[in-house]
Amino acid sequence: MKRIVILISGRGSNMAAILDSNLPIEIAAVISNRGDSAGLEIARSRKLPAFSIEHKDYALREDFDSALAMKIDEFSPDFVILAGFMRILGIDFVKRYSGRLVNIHPSLLPSFPGTKTHRKALEEGVKIHGCTVHFVTEKLDHGAIIIQAAVPVLEDDDEESLAARVLEQEHRIYPQAIRWLVEGRINREGNRVLLGGKSGGALVSPEIEPR
Ligand code: GRF
Repeated sequence: MKRIVILISGRGSNMAAILDSNLPIEIAAVISNRGDSAGLEIARSRKLPAFSIEHKDYALREDFDSALAMKIDEFSPDFVILAGFMRILGIDFVKRYSGRLVNIHPSLLPSFPGTKTHRKALEEGVKIHGCTVHFVTEKLDHGAIIIQAAVPVLEDDDEESLAARVLEQEHRIYPQAIRWLVEGRINREGNRVLLGGKSGGALVSPEIEPR
């Protein structure tokens, strides 16, 4: 079974969705950069090894990254899953886990990288918003896209209602992406992700079941 380390910073609902998805994986550890993350409690309540490495304890980003990498490597994971992990990781860290490091981002990348994606989507007046699971590269929120889900932006949406609609899809696509990963179905041609050799990648909307 593939070994997974999950990195979180807060609530941990994506982590919980992964844990609840009956995936053929071993969760080797959950690590947060904040000791007060609610997600750590969820992990502990499920008897998973859960740790915090406080980013505030490190003056330099590289030192935090090194401490985090040392902890991760104790568990020899096949994949490192960023699930609401809110720290930017440096080049060395990203290179160390290249091809094994994935993230979920609450927008249809490459639109709206960074934070406050739902506010930006409302400000720009887009009609379709969504979420993306992607490989992590040195460029923030920019790696090869594994799966996306789209949701409509409704006229009476505010940030909260839009975030909730997107989050529902995050909980659906992240477990799917991890299933593909651990089943070895993901091939890459440059920035394109091909599923089991089939081109076309993986764009889903709530009405379309992924292959
Ligand atoms: C999610 O919307 C994720 O996409 C973003 O931060 C949020 C984390 O939520 N990066 P949770 O901790 O998984 O509940």
